[in-house]
Amino acid sequence: MDGKLITLEGIDGSGKSTQMRMLAGELRLRGVEILQTREPGGTPLGRRLRAAFLETEEDVHPMAELLLFAADRAQHVNYLIKPAIAEGKIVLSDRYADATFAYQGAGRGFPEETVSEVIKLATGGLTPDLTLFFDLPVERALVRTNDEDSDHRITNRMDQEDSDFYARVRQSYLGIADREPDRFRVVDADRSISEIQHDVVEIVTGFLELPAPEKKAKPAKPADESA
Ligand code: ADP
Ligand code: TYD
Repeated sequence: MDGKLITLEGIDGSGKSTQMRMLAGELRLRGVEILQTREPGGTPLGRRLRAAFLETEEDVHPMAELLLFAADRAQHVNYLIKPAIAEGKIVLSDRYADATFAYQGAGRGFPEETVSEVIKLATGGLTPDLTLFFDLPVERALVRTNDEDSDHRITNRMDQEDSDFYARVRQSYLGIADREPDRFRVVDADRSISEIQHDVVEIVTGFLELPAPEKKAKPAKPADESA
């Protein structure tokens, strides 16, 4: 199988990390060689960058933020993603360049051309083969991230933005879906985890042209009891 880059995107709390874990498990079960990774923080340097600029209470200038996400990505693309693709692996990344377009572009207000230029520099033009965008209304996502029992409580600077910020980010993602419908698939994330998982597996296995899983053999009929 040729290596491919599949990315998962969505506003915070859209459920993409949950779905990524399940998708990775499903693909492994079917014998697909995958690399499961994330941005920011997919590499050792990226994890240090992430802690330095995301998990801090210090003011981080928007330009510094834009460039630090780009630095994380340049390291990630060159030392992890490209080599894995070259080895024929399916790379699953929880967030990639579309996040910069949506968060730093629409969210922070950088012009699209500036953001696109920075993305191109960081990625060397590597675009995902397939992107799943987990879409749900901002209020629904905020309920999930603020839920006491959630494993995604507010943990970093970006999680502290207001609903207008997330609404702009969501609209920006939906704009990409309009422009690139083949690559960027919208998944309705306002459903149960298993309903969403069903769609995700269908989209990805279809995209990778994996054979349908073998149907479990029907339980053998009990011996004819009337005999
Ligand atoms: P993301 O990675 O997009 O920020 P997570 O996968 O971390 O989102 O999910 C955020 C929270 O919402 C977690 O507590 C998770 O268990 C919960 N969650 C995920 N998917 C669903 C769903 N379909 N319905 C309800 N809660 C969900
Ligand atoms: P993270 O804890 O990884 O959130 P999530 O589980 O929702 O992905 O935090 C990453 C945060 O950084 C998230 O709020 C999105 C944001 N971000 C950007 O603003 N620009 C980017 O380019 C990337 C990759 C992430």
